[in-house]
Amino acid sequence: MEGDCPQENSLLCLQTQSRTFKLCVRNENFLAHLDFTANLLDNQITKPEILIQRIVLLTLAILLAVLLGFFGVQLVQASDPYVKSVLSLTGNPVQGHAIFQINCAGCHGLEADGRVGPSLQAVSKHKSRYGLIRQVISGETPPMPKFQPSAQEMADLLNYLESL
Ligand code: HEC
Repeated sequence: MEGDCPQENSLLCLQTQSRTFKLCVRNENFLAHLDFTANLLDNQITKPEILIQRIVLLTLAILLAVLLGFFGVQLVQASDPYVKSVLSLTGNPVQGHAIFQINCAGCHGLEADGRVGPSLQAVSKHKSRYGLIRQVISGETPPMPKFQPSAQEMADLLNYLESL
């Protein structure tokens, strides 16, 4: 059922014969993007079975697109060499705590309970491991500075943050 898609980089395109609907998964930043084109010029009376069939097909296609987008994002995140080596190491929580007290406690409090920076209690419940690493190394949310820990230091820190 693959057909040509108008966009470049499309991973997937489904098409039916009478009415066209195309579902294209575009590859930009691996976020799923749906393009739905219904050609309603065709004035054939649609039988309920066909309608149900189409709804099922469409639902499946959307599900597939969402899954592809989700795994695409995971794939991009996991392919970063720094993240890869951090995640391959076993963090030491005692070291992580010490690193935290030296670098982070000034803003986040000695036990990560919050001062200038927010409390980090249970932070791993709303931030993924990738999100936590990014938060530490990116410098995207000033005034929090950009840190450059070694992969082992980051693994230790990650272990500590996940224990909060
Ligand atoms: C200069 C103060 C400062 C320092 C030093 C600092 N942070 Fe932050 N941090 C912040 C502020 C402010 C925010 C909130 C940023 C925002 O979201 O706008 C933040 C946010 C965070 C978050 C996200 C919290 C959430 O709820 O999503 C994490 C995780 C974090 N910091 C970890 C660290 C770690 C680990 C260190 C040490 C390596 C550190 N921070 C050092 C100020 C600081």
